[in-house]
Amino acid sequence: MLWGGRFAKSMDEQARRFNDSIAFDRRLYAADIQGSIAYAHALLRAGLLTVEECDQIVAGLEQVRAELAAGVFVFHPEDEDIHTAVERRLTELVGQVAGKLHTGRSRNDQVSTDLRLYLLEALDALRQSLVALQEAIIGKAKACLDVIMPGYTHLRPAQPVLFSHWLMSFFWKFQRDRERLADVAQRTAVLPLGAGALAGNPFGIDRQALAAELGLAAIAENSMDAVSDRDYVVEFLSWAALLQIHLSNLAEDLILWSSREFGFVELDDAYCTGSSLMPQKKNPDTLELTRGKSGRVVGNLVGALMMCKGLPSGYNKDLQEDKEAVFDTIDTLSLELPLAAGVISTLQVHAERMAAALDEGMLATDLADYLVGKGVPFRQSHHLVGQAVKRAEELGVRLHELGLAEYQAIHPAFAEDLYAVFDYHRAVERRNVLGGTAPAAVRLQIARAKALLEEEGC
Ligand code: ARG
Repeated sequence: MLWGGRFAKSMDEQARRFNDSIAFDRRLYAADIQGSIAYAHALLRAGLLTVEECDQIVAGLEQVRAELAAGVFVFHPEDEDIHTAVERRLTELVGQVAGKLHTGRSRNDQVSTDLRLYLLEALDALRQSLVALQEAIIGKAKACLDVIMPGYTHLRPAQPVLFSHWLMSFFWKFQRDRERLADVAQRTAVLPLGAGALAGNPFGIDRQALAAELGLAAIAENSMDAVSDRDYVVEFLSWAALLQIHLSNLAEDLILWSSREFGFVELDDAYCTGSSLMPQKKNPDTLELTRGKSGRVVGNLVGALMMCKGLPSGYNKDLQEDKEAVFDTIDTLSLELPLAAGVISTLQVHAERMAAALDEGMLATDLADYLVGKGVPFRQSHHLVGQAVKRAEELGVRLHELGLAEYQAIHPAFAEDLYAVFDYHRAVERRNVLGGTAPAAVRLQIARAKALLEEEGC
């Protein structure tokens, strides 16, 4: 135990279990030991450890790390948290000199240092998974450049778009998620160590050197802020929540489009399950879970915010609640991202089903644009085409089947060439603006996306 001198009796058993965090914070062991090795070096530089003592402590910590990594570390019931467990084992290995390691340090500055180091590593892994997903999107988008699908607004057919255009829309969402990730990482890479319990280290610890050894870009400027700040946790969780929503949106589109009624895409068997009752079923469970896990990922964010609300200044034990939220969110995203990449890269695209779902009504805007070409103001042409749609409905024909006389009765600017509007390829090709759905624009978009990844050295 790291404390107890002033106590007359031991803790209530339930209170002890309630207080313990070892069940989950053992995940921080590598970061904890990394931080402790750097701290031993700082104590050496400050003249609080001899070279020999420092070597003993560092060698001992390395052995503790090896035992934990190999899964042979034996936890004791009194190991309240990972910091206690590591120091207890270090004492067993190197004796009383271990007691010098915590000089001037508190678990308050220690735990936040650990969590920041841990989070930075996790962020880097998530960044790589995001890049892999973006690459899967680009790969599929390039392979499907000739596929036209109905684009929707309000989940009603709106205008034809390239399937690749839809796919690439997610590339940019994930690109922004990656930009935000870099921002979160920057504010996470700040050193709390040296803050002590709250007032700062009294032993002349060189915090700049500590930060440099731990690869952190900055040091916390205020010791009270350093031990109580969990902004970086909230930032990470809110970053994650937004990424999770993007994954959920992607999943929802694919669930819908892989349904029998749409049939636009077929999910690979590898990402689906069957029904225990209905032999014909092929369920998109991977995507449904990706959508469903939004509850926990967003919940983790809300939980962390609630944990912070109402805290008085300084460290409070409430803050122990930060870790499970972080771990759960990391675990969830670490599973979802590679699965999303797998679903995309194995997706079968049914161009003919998408083509069959197009209808001439989706070219009504193009017909209005046609009138604009004849000098009719758009507001008016929109109204006139609306009348044509109504007339076609009355006669029970489709928009392209409505006779020229009917069109001309609506407005004399309609001429025989109006029927050339009813061409889906032409409709997408017309939208050759930067960011538009024309094949040339989408090709350019893909090239820009690839260049972005290359520039970043992905
Ligand atoms: N398990 C604690 C946490 O996660 C470590 C810090 C404990 N600090 C203390 N003063 N009791 O926050």
